[in-house]
Amino acid sequence: MSTEYDTTPTADPGIEAREAHWDRRANGFDTDFTQAPVREQVLDQISRQLPTEPCTALDAGTGSGRTMARLIQGLHPESDIVGCDLSPAMLHQARVHAPHKARGSLSFVYADLCALPFDDGGFDLVVSTFTLHHVPPTQQLAVLRELRRVLGEDGMLILADQVQPDPPLSVEAMRAAVAETFYPHLPHAEAVGLLSTYGEWPLTVGELTDLLEAAGFGCEVTDIHRIVAIATATPGHAHPRGRQ
Ligand SMILES: C[S@@+](CC[C@H](N)C(=O)[O-])C[C@H]1O[C@@H](n2cnc3c(N)ncnc32)[C@H](O)[C@@H]1O
Repeated sequence: MSTEYDTTPTADPGIEAREAHWDRRANGFDTDFTQAPVREQVLDQISRQLPTEPCTALDAGTGSGRTMARLIQGLHPESDIVGCDLSPAMLHQARVHAPHKARGSLSFVYADLCALPFDDGGFDLVVSTFTLHHVPPTQQLAVLRELRRVLGEDGMLILADQVQPDPPLSVEAMRAAVAETFYPHLPHAEAVGLLSTYGEWPLTVGELTDLLEAAGFGCEVTDIHRIVAIATATPGHAHPRGRQ
């Protein structure tokens, strides 16, 4: 298992390489990454913000479906929920792990967040957890614009992600922080071996705020942990200058 890991912007290895990485991670994902207490803390906070009325919801970068399971449990039973991801193996895990949903619809869609196969304004709620920092920097604004496009004018985006402290940590310090934060139950070397092999691109809270505004959101970003933040964003005025 590779221990290569970089938190500085690197060239995008291409969507096939990123998809292959997540396909490889899919089988064990629910028993490693999703155990960290900070993950539960994020999901608890998201659960407290969910609308109470029936809605259409998108889980963008659904992975093995841990966040989607919270949406199924927390949203009104008549809600329609879609999970999308670029990894077929992750989508398979999400399907397998999805709690039974007696009413409303549940679907799983293979899609790149840069070009979502959904109508403008079709969702009342978009949730995305721990996915944006896996999107190359040159595509992050495009992804947020897509999330904005598919969200209705009265909708809400809740985005939780790994963030880079300000001032940034060194690559080694970030690697240690990620391993300790997301894999506290594993020996350090094993935890580091699970980290992305293609580089990751976490934003600072300030950069995330700027990017959300550039994508047309008004937002509030709260850091709930040294390297984890949650943004609650609603359609607002686009920032006059984009960062990318
Ligand atoms: C760290 S996992 C998080 C999964 C899940 N949201 C969670 O919190 O457990 C990141 C997920 O984002 C997906 N992903 C990364 N880049 C993507 C893109 N451009 N389009 C769609 N999915 C993407 C990966 O396939 C992976 O399943």
